[in-house]
Amino acid sequence: MKLFRGGPLWRDEFTIDQADERYVNRRQFSKFLVLTSLGMLVGNVMIAVRAWLRGAPPPLPAAPVALASEVPLGGVKLFNYPTPQDPCILVRLGEERFVAYSQKCTHLSCAVYYEAAERRLECPCHQGYFSVEDGSVLQGPPPRPLPRVLIEKRGETLVATGIEIGARAGGHA
Ligand code: FES
Repeated sequence: MKLFRGGPLWRDEFTIDQADERYVNRRQFSKFLVLTSLGMLVGNVMIAVRAWLRGAPPPLPAAPVALASEVPLGGVKLFNYPTPQDPCILVRLGEERFVAYSQKCTHLSCAVYYEAAERRLECPCHQGYFSVEDGSVLQGPPPRPLPRVLIEKRGETLVATGIEIGARAGGHA
């Protein structure tokens, strides 16, 4: 190997020593961080602008789900709302009092059923219990109340008019 100026030829042609190399790497890393941060900032701004432009989601369509006479006192009617893939449960709590909820447990989506003796909605998968009065969690692993389906009584027809997430109380027909 030929030696020039006290070292091998390749050292003369690639004159970056180890200290400089670290400096370049640090600079490249800083550049990478700045560009990544800028990219994330631009992405977040775009998401915020799109959400702002879209505004509130459109209201759900009203849909008849049962006749009041079909559901005896303490009885249940299953229906789907707002799409055929969304199972719901309607419970008649009084002569003129109907409540309805999504039938999907907020833990892992098992179907809840009404336990009339306990006056609560129960999930058989992990013993999650919900209040039939407002859908709130009474016991077990479910992290959130059942989404409540808003029910209006129009004549003899019970009509679903929307869904309330995280319902606390009220909302009977
Ligand atoms: S899926 Fe309902 S409690 Fe786990």
